[in-house]
Amino acid sequence: MSTIPRNQWYVAAYSSEITHELFARTVCGEPILFWRTEDGTVVAHSDRCVHRRFPLSQAPSRLVGDTVVCGYHGFTYGPDGRCVAVPGQTRVPRTARLTAYPVVELDSLVWLWIGDPAEADEGRIPRASYLDSPGYTTVRGREPLAARFSLLVDNLLDLSHETYLHGGYIGTPEVADTPITTEVDDEAGVVYVSRHMDDAECPPFYERSTGLSGRISRWQDIEYTPPCLYKLHSRIAPVGSVPNPDGSDPDAFHVEVVYAITPETEHSTHDFWLVARDFALDDTGVSEFLAENNRTVVLQDVEALDVLEQVIQREPEGYQELSINIDTGGLAARRMLARMAGQAPRNAPAAPAR
Ligand code: FES
Ligand SMILES: [Fe+2]
Repeated sequence: MSTIPRNQWYVAAYSSEITHELFARTVCGEPILFWRTEDGTVVAHSDRCVHRRFPLSQAPSRLVGDTVVCGYHGFTYGPDGRCVAVPGQTRVPRTARLTAYPVVELDSLVWLWIGDPAEADEGRIPRASYLDSPGYTTVRGREPLAARFSLLVDNLLDLSHETYLHGGYIGTPEVADTPITTEVDDEAGVVYVSRHMDDAECPPFYERSTGLSGRISRWQDIEYTPPCLYKLHSRIAPVGSVPNPDGSDPDAFHVEVVYAITPETEHSTHDFWLVARDFALDDTGVSEFLAENNRTVVLQDVEALDVLEQVIQREPEGYQELSINIDTGGLAARRMLARMAGQAPRNAPAAPAR
């Protein structure tokens, strides 16, 4: 039975990936064809010709103006997915139509609705407007993960692993040593996990990018909107500096780390990652450093989770885990995801062991 929630919005691509060319990506087990029409609108359809299932993303299939011509026998489809021409006859069967997926571009992301199109409500798409704002500079990437998406959710909701898995990059002893606070807003469907380190070592990731060194105040405020969008609001400042009562925060550096966690299949995931900053906006050296360093960190997680997926697949049904305080956010996320997928949560007790 699937653990992937349906009737949800997922990030399928970056806006910059979709041009006036055929583009294929599997999302939640469904092969999908994307392209941008001549007026710039992104459209998404099933990547299977209705005739004999030839993939429309596959050469010699091609775009001709605003139509897709199947490379096998020439069935031709318009931007709404409707077949407009078939070979050898003038009458086009009424049912010849590709499944169309609701798609919305927001904040430089292409969001795709998986499920019943009648229920697609754009208002439910979580926002991250800084990803497409002149006040920020963003670097981004996407790594293939050969693990189920819920393992990446577990990973991102418990950052104490930074100390161990990412030592020398973003991990310092204080991350694992500082207790977290967790809040769950069931109505809004958001899990918050915060860790405020008021006197911590500055890891290389922030030393090189901000120019701060020695001891720093480092805050990590996670805001996860299941199933797909994970935001980490990271604040780095000299020790003792706090935001002003009016919300301004001139002495601090703000880094917004975003992950879009999109199932590719039951056991593989698109790991989209973005790092937006509100300082050194035009400094390409900082951009290159953050892009390269964050990719390294992401690949450290990918390597660990690829192993974990293989291990879990071999574990007996109902295998045991032991959860502690650091897992509170992850357990809350599992409960929300399970509810969305209409299932009991994976191996999750209601509360961590004390
Ligand atoms: S499979 Fe596409 S036209 Fe035959
Ligand atoms: Fe990590």
